[in-house]
Amino acid sequence: MSDNDWWRHAVVYQVYPRSFADSDGDGMGDIPGLVSRLDYLADLGVDAIWISPFYTSPLNDGGYDVADYRSIDPRLGTLDDVDRMITEAHARNIRILMDVVPNHTSSEHRWFKEALLTEPGSPEWDRYVVREGRGEDKETPPNNWRSIFHGSGWSHIRRADGSPTGYWYLHLFDPTQPDVNWDNPEVHQEFVDTLRFWFDRGIDGFRIDVSHGLVKEAGLPDFDYTLEDAEKLQGMFDEDSAHAPFWDQDGVHDIYREWRRVADEYDPPRVFCGETWVPNPVRLARYQRPDELHTSFNFSYLQAGWDAAEMRRSIDETVANHALVGAPPTWVLSNHDVVRHATRMAPGFDHAAQLTCAIDEERGLRRARAATVFAMALPGSMYLYQGEELGLPEVRDLPAESRQDPAWLRSGGTDGTRDGCRVPIPWSGTSPSYGFNAGDASWLPQPATWTGLSVADQLGVTGSTLELYRTALRARRAEPALGEGPMEWLDDPEADVLALRRTGPDGSSVVAVVNLNNSIVRIPAVWGTTLLVASSDDVAIVSTDDGTQFVAVGPETALWLTP
Ligand code: GLC
Ligand code: MG
Repeated sequence: MSDNDWWRHAVVYQVYPRSFADSDGDGMGDIPGLVSRLDYLADLGVDAIWISPFYTSPLNDGGYDVADYRSIDPRLGTLDDVDRMITEAHARNIRILMDVVPNHTSSEHRWFKEALLTEPGSPEWDRYVVREGRGEDKETPPNNWRSIFHGSGWSHIRRADGSPTGYWYLHLFDPTQPDVNWDNPEVHQEFVDTLRFWFDRGIDGFRIDVSHGLVKEAGLPDFDYTLEDAEKLQGMFDEDSAHAPFWDQDGVHDIYREWRRVADEYDPPRVFCGETWVPNPVRLARYQRPDELHTSFNFSYLQAGWDAAEMRRSIDETVANHALVGAPPTWVLSNHDVVRHATRMAPGFDHAAQLTCAIDEERGLRRARAATVFAMALPGSMYLYQGEELGLPEVRDLPAESRQDPAWLRSGGTDGTRDGCRVPIPWSGTSPSYGFNAGDASWLPQPATWTGLSVADQLGVTGSTLELYRTALRARRAEPALGEGPMEWLDDPEADVLALRRTGPDGSSVVAVVNLNNSIVRIPAVWGTTLLVASSDDVAIVSTDDGTQFVAVGPETALWLTP
């Protein structure tokens, strides 16, 4: 496989820069902090990092509200720091994916400020999605679309003196995140120029924020919100639900064809990964057609949870549909928008009562470790979220006043709990910031219960989650069977056991098994008797008196075997 195909089997580590490492002690992680920890990432064994936005931003949505796509927020660093990060990462064979946010700008963006100086109907306002209000006084929004962060999806445009214009702008997210008008050629040009700006500086690709959102159905029809609003809005709708007029419109594919042509002009070609919340794996695979995005997040697997049938269904559908378009699937269990999977998978976890439900944390971590080891053996590429390699749980008891998720603020504290997965990660020691910086400051407080979970506490400790990740990533690299190649399910596993075989181009093979039961199961020795990786200690190769062999796999455990 050529080196240009690295993304087909890469392990990509997501850095949420505000919460990764803080070099200057202001309580906010920054680019120099990240640079200082590149050795850690190289040693962990990741192929690439994707870094959430660090552009100039009012940080109303953690940087997903971009005021200038070509400058760095001074709190996070400088352009020189970013250039150094690219050089230093590449020196360690780590590729860099940045995050581009094309669905909306910040209201602090030059474009929005220019628009505010004009009347709706101007070329400046045409860069955004603007419509006349309904009703005689135009005080009713143009349609019934809601913001994913609660409330109306529209805000009335007012003049500097406060008088209403009768026109409204669309914001699928916060009012400070106006949606951009992708019918306007100037918008296309601006984003192509932005891609080139960063590609020219040497980055390897982009993750595309809300990549299923950019184009809205013509006429902006009302949308029938009969299902669970929140779920539907986040795109986590089930297959039978209606097709939202603001998600997954056919027109988005033209944008990605345009972007792919730009990426392909470079040597090596630059790559894309879409953040694509779509109803099912069939719709997902369309984004990976050969002239579009290289990869997209496959959230169906994340949503499958700890459920053998759902996991198997997601894997089958995803692999089959990606094969149709010749693209590798991706697997992801955690990111900065969802509850950390060590908590999410815990017995007792209830999404609707996620801050208060009683959960079994120990088994949550045990399941998370098993789910991760199993996912790392699937064909394609894998995304990890900072801190999951430490087995971090979701922080569910953040003081309300420290929370910053705009959905939390807009829902009056009834939703928007994404801060709990964004708490700065513990590097060492027992001080309040656990080595996040040299002092105590942290933009979100770390819990006292994280003592013992830091990198320093886990490094070199047999059985720690960090060592599990390091071992698994090393084995994944070393085994030609793991990566992009084929997979087949093995016949007749016990109930709630998934078992598959991966085969390498050299004929070598690895069998991956996950036992979802809360009890021991036996698997046949013909599946393999050499243990490469196991997510718990509870695995034994057993030989009985009559000479037969089997592998005993403990509760909620995954393992990789070779013959
Ligand atoms: C994506 C980001 C999320 C952000 C939203 C709006 O879903 O991952 O963090 O709030 O887009 O940009
Ligand atoms: Mg800092």
